[in-house]
Amino acid sequence: MSEDLQYAKEHLEEKGYLDVDVDPTIDLVEEIEKLKKEKNAVILAHYYQESEIQDVADYIGDSLGLSQEAAKTDADIIVFAGVHFMAETAKILSPEKKVLLPDLKAGCSLADSCPAPLFRKFKEKHPDHIVVSYVNTTAEMKTLTDICCTSTNAVQIIESIPKDQPIIFAPDINLGRYLVKKTGRDMLLWNGTCMVHEMFSAEKITKLKERHPNALLIAHPECEAHILERADFIGSTTGLLNFTVNSDATEFIVATEVGIIHQMQKRSPHKTFIPAPPNDQCACNVCPHMKRNTMEKLYLCMKYEQPEIILPDHIIRDARASIDRMLEISAKAGL
Ligand code: 13P
Ligand code: SF4
Repeated sequence: MSEDLQYAKEHLEEKGYLDVDVDPTIDLVEEIEKLKKEKNAVILAHYYQESEIQDVADYIGDSLGLSQEAAKTDADIIVFAGVHFMAETAKILSPEKKVLLPDLKAGCSLADSCPAPLFRKFKEKHPDHIVVSYVNTTAEMKTLTDICCTSTNAVQIIESIPKDQPIIFAPDINLGRYLVKKTGRDMLLWNGTCMVHEMFSAEKITKLKERHPNALLIAHPECEAHILERADFIGSTTGLLNFTVNSDATEFIVATEVGIIHQMQKRSPHKTFIPAPPNDQCACNVCPHMKRNTMEKLYLCMKYEQPEIILPDHIIRDARASIDRMLEISAKAGL
């Protein structure tokens, strides 16, 4: 048994479920489908999840799409195949629903890079600034945020703020720099990064482009500036996916987490997708947090309705306004 599955079992044992096991002979897809119907549960999955999880999900999307879906679902249980901050966002938007995350340790290096107590002190030093936070933050950080954003709507969110209003942008410094360039707004930036998107090698990408002269480089705005400068297209995961579907090009070098390639390949089977190479020989373009979720853990979490996301009422109340404002501005912008 993998160390990870052992952890999930230990969590269930702590909750009083003893002798939990996954029978290796069962068809996990069939069982998960059955549990969905039995419990009126919906599986929301991010594009960075392993392909089997994407295939069993009811909705696959980027951070914005997932929060919009969480806000409107009429399911009784939301099973979040993503990372902790995403499941927290779903809970804030649908507090009356049970929100499950297959592995509570599925975190995010960006969210970790901005602890709320530290940020609170920083914010206190700039009382005239309003705070725009990327949705990749803890629920507590969202209580210190005026408006959340995702990579799909960040430009529209910044542009919705009066020009003379100073802004703090947290926590992703790469997305922040990209937004400063794109909107012409001078913002105070928090120095956080995503461990996956800061690992791409410009040198290796240049060499790859020499071997594939017709390939377009497409990059997520969490990538560093020297990668974004070389990109033919920059967008959120949904933006990148749509670009590959609509573009006449047939070859793409993809500078984001590799999980997205599953949907790109499904939507355009005749096109070629090459993962952008990271600096070392490591598998750094795979998000270890996203990949903590597995089919076995998804099955166990649906069967036992654990681990569940629980948030104090005051956090839900205080964090909600920043997400609601993001959703309102996105709806106005037709996103
Ligand atoms: P989007 O899917 O919203 O582009 O975000 C990417 C990401 O890193 C999520 O953790
Ligand atoms: Fe966080 Fe980066 Fe993983 Fe997304 S890819 S969950 S931003 S560490």
